[in-house]
Amino acid sequence: MSSARQPIGVIGTGYVGLVTAAGFAELGSDVYCVDIDAEKVERLKRGEVPIYEPGLAELLAQNKERLHFSTALDEALAHARLLFVAVGTPPTYSGDADLSAVHAVVAAISPSREHALVMKSTVPCGTGANLQRVFKQTGKEDMAYVSCPEFLKEGSAVKDFLHPDRVVVGDDGGWAGDAVVELYAPLAAPLVRTDVASAEMVKLASNAFLATKISFINEIANVCEGTGADVVEVARGMGLDDRIGPRFLQAGIGFGGSCFPKDVDALKQLAGNSGYHFQLLNSVIAVNDLQKRRVVNKLQKHLGAIAGRRVALLGLAFKPETDDMREASSLVLCARLQADGASIAVYDPVAEEQARRLVTGVDFAASPLDAVAEADAVVLVTEWRELVELDWSAVAGAMRGNVLIDGRNALDPQAVRAAGLIYEGVGRR
Ligand SMILES: NC(=O)c1ccc[n+]([C@@H]2O[C@H](COP(=O)([O-])OP(=O)(O)OC[C@H]3O[C@@H](n4cnc5c(N)ncnc54)[C@H](O)[C@@H]3O)[C@@H](O)[C@H]2O)c1
Repeated sequence: MSSARQPIGVIGTGYVGLVTAAGFAELGSDVYCVDIDAEKVERLKRGEVPIYEPGLAELLAQNKERLHFSTALDEALAHARLLFVAVGTPPTYSGDADLSAVHAVVAAISPSREHALVMKSTVPCGTGANLQRVFKQTGKEDMAYVSCPEFLKEGSAVKDFLHPDRVVVGDDGGWAGDAVVELYAPLAAPLVRTDVASAEMVKLASNAFLATKISFINEIANVCEGTGADVVEVARGMGLDDRIGPRFLQAGIGFGGSCFPKDVDALKQLAGNSGYHFQLLNSVIAVNDLQKRRVVNKLQKHLGAIAGRRVALLGLAFKPETDDMREASSLVLCARLQADGASIAVYDPVAEEQARRLVTGVDFAASPLDAVAEADAVVLVTEWRELVELDWSAVAGAMRGNVLIDGRNALDPQAVRAAGLIYEGVGRR
């Protein structure tokens, strides 16, 4: 790749920041990364990758000459005009997005007509306008602002960066938006060039729509359970309609992760704050909350009382191919089962370190078979390939009981039953 590409700054080196940095470095830019987490920055400087994301370590290593890491903004400000902001925007107690990290970044930048803030973090619609007001109040009115929301999916983030479905650039038509468009040009992705507020809304509306699709199929699954239909067949029949499409139609124990729950909530709050009651999103959230708990009803159906029972949870991360535990369904399940007096064994191929910070009082097993040993019931929580491809006869042999709940409809019921286990999925016959 050409080395004449413009250098950029990336502020925040989490899942989005690191992938963005590695991706633009791959396209030929020098990338100046900044994070307030000194330990993370030291690890990155040593060539370590603090998160699990397939392909990221290789991309970072391949482009290490172009990647610079620091806890201070100075180097980024000195070398780059475009400062991509990828700091966290977690939910507050009210469900609104916590923008304190974004404001900390704005406060740390000295007034400049040379620089532009390019917002990758997911922020409520109206944030760009508010930040531009802050620019004016703090003598930074010459600084440009661009909204460039990120749509990558953890687990396939590198591929998503290099082959995006679309690039959305929201700005007022100045130099900075043009520069962002130019940066993304080699990816030849469909471009949506729009205003800041619309770009912000594209992100929130996209995540809310996908979450709605998941809650919709989960409700269909629940109706299937009462009517004898099989949701896997139903979803296949629906998904072949190209107006509907097959993706996000897998019924299961609900969505989690660092984005859907908080972004759906943030859009609901945003609507409420502007005087609109977003009825549909209330239901999407309520269905998702209930869906995680329905697993416990299924366990009760087979085991009777949960107290004193041994339950093994296979998979902890909110989805396969990530170590991200934020809002993972496993957290709700652990807490619910513990409250009912179960003893719990858990196994995850990569998320154990993250999970240990969030879950106490469970036995972390070193292998799936260790986790299921002497279990009365097993729940497949995350459909890691290693777990989907387990030898179910060996699982049955190690268990005390024989109940298997497939929380992701990822298993072949016949194979599981042939191993002597009771199979129960979500909405399956
Ligand atoms: N994770 C995803 O799949 C995903 C996808 C699309 C969009 N997003 C959005 O992107 C944003 C970042 O998400 P993430 O998952 O990468 O978060 P993350 O928590 O993994 O990373 C955020 C990073 O920002 C750093 N940080 C916080 N305050 C800072 C400051 N003042 N200066 C410099 N660094 C600072 C943190 O130390 C951390 O390393 C969020 O708004 C999120 O909603 C995330």
